[in-house]
Amino acid sequence: MNEVNIAVVPVAGLGTRLLPATKSQPKEMLPVGRKPGVQYVVEELTRAGMQRLLFVTGPGKSSIENHFDLNEEMIQNLRETGKEELLEELEFERAPVQYFYTRQRQLLGLGHAVLCAQPFVGDLPFVVALGDSIIGLQAQSDIVRRMTRCFMEQKAEAVVAFEEVPAREIHNYGVAQPRGGGEVFELADVIEKPSAKEAPSNLAIAARYVLAPGIFNALRRTAPGKGDEIQLTDAIRLLIQEGKKVLGIRLRPRERRFDIGNYDAYFRAFVEFALADKKYGPALRKFLVQLLHETHP
Ligand code: UTP
Repeated sequence: MNEVNIAVVPVAGLGTRLLPATKSQPKEMLPVGRKPGVQYVVEELTRAGMQRLLFVTGPGKSSIENHFDLNEEMIQNLRETGKEELLEELEFERAPVQYFYTRQRQLLGLGHAVLCAQPFVGDLPFVVALGDSIIGLQAQSDIVRRMTRCFMEQKAEAVVAFEEVPAREIHNYGVAQPRGGGEVFELADVIEKPSAKEAPSNLAIAARYVLAPGIFNALRRTAPGKGDEIQLTDAIRLLIQEGKKVLGIRLRPRERRFDIGNYDAYFRAFVEFALADKKYGPALRKFLVQLLHETHP
C-alpha cells in the first residue's frame, strides 16, 4: 500500500461559538500562546511526514493562506532593521511541504468538507486533521505517525484517534463502541453526538483520522445526520456496517486534545501553552499566582 503523505485540513466552519472574535478572522488563526492554532496542526503534520496539505476553506479564511506563504518582504525588513533574531519565528514558512487550497462552497458538514478533497486526493489514502484541534502541549505528539503506521500494517480502511472524555461532555463528539481494549482496538460502531445515556463508551473522536479513498463513496451515500450536516462519523459507521476494518487508537496521557472551538477550551489552551512557553512562561506563572492570590485571598 502507498505510504500516507497527504493531509486534508478542514477549516471551513464558521466558528460561531467564538463570536465576536471570529466575525472577520478564522478561529484557526487565533493565537494559542505565540502561534496561531493552525500552525501547530501543520507542524504536527509535517513532522508526521506529510508532504502535501490541502486546506478545505471557506469565506473569510484567506489569512490562513497568507500565514503559510513565504514572506520575503518581511524577512528582508527584519534583516535590514537588525532584527535577525526574529527570523527564526518565520522558519515554519520553509517547512518541506506543499500547500493546496480548495473551497467548500456550501457548509454542509465535516463529511461534505472531506468530500471536497476527492479531486485532489484521488485513489490515495490520506490523513484528516481538524484545523481547530491541537494534539499535545505545544503539539508534541506523534499520533499521526502512529496512525499511518497502524493503517498500513493492519491494512485498515480507516484509523480514528480517540480520547477519553467526561460523561458530561460526551454529547459533543463522535463516540466509539470498541471491540476489546488496548491502545489500538477494532470499532464495533461509532455514534455521532450521542446523549450520555446512549453513549457506548467515554471514548470521543479526537480530530485525527487516516482514511482509505473508499471513504468518498461512503460519504456520497451518507444522508445528513445530526445538525442536518453530512457527518464524517456516519460515513465511517457505514464502513463498519459493511464489514470494513476500522480501527481506533487512543491518545496517550501526554497527548491531550486541545480543541480551540469554544471559549472555555480556548482560554484553557491559551493559558497552558503560554505557561509552557520557555521565554514567557515563568513570568506569567508568577503573575497568575499573584493575581489569583489578590482576587481570592
Ligand atoms: P465544528 O462544528 O467544530 O466547527 O466543526 P464550526 O462549524 O466552525 O463551529 P461552530 O459550531 O460554528 O462554532 C469541526 C470541524 O469541521 C470543519 C470545521 O472547520 C472544524 O474544523 N467543518 C465543519 C467544515 O470544514 N465544514 C463544515 O461544513 C463544517
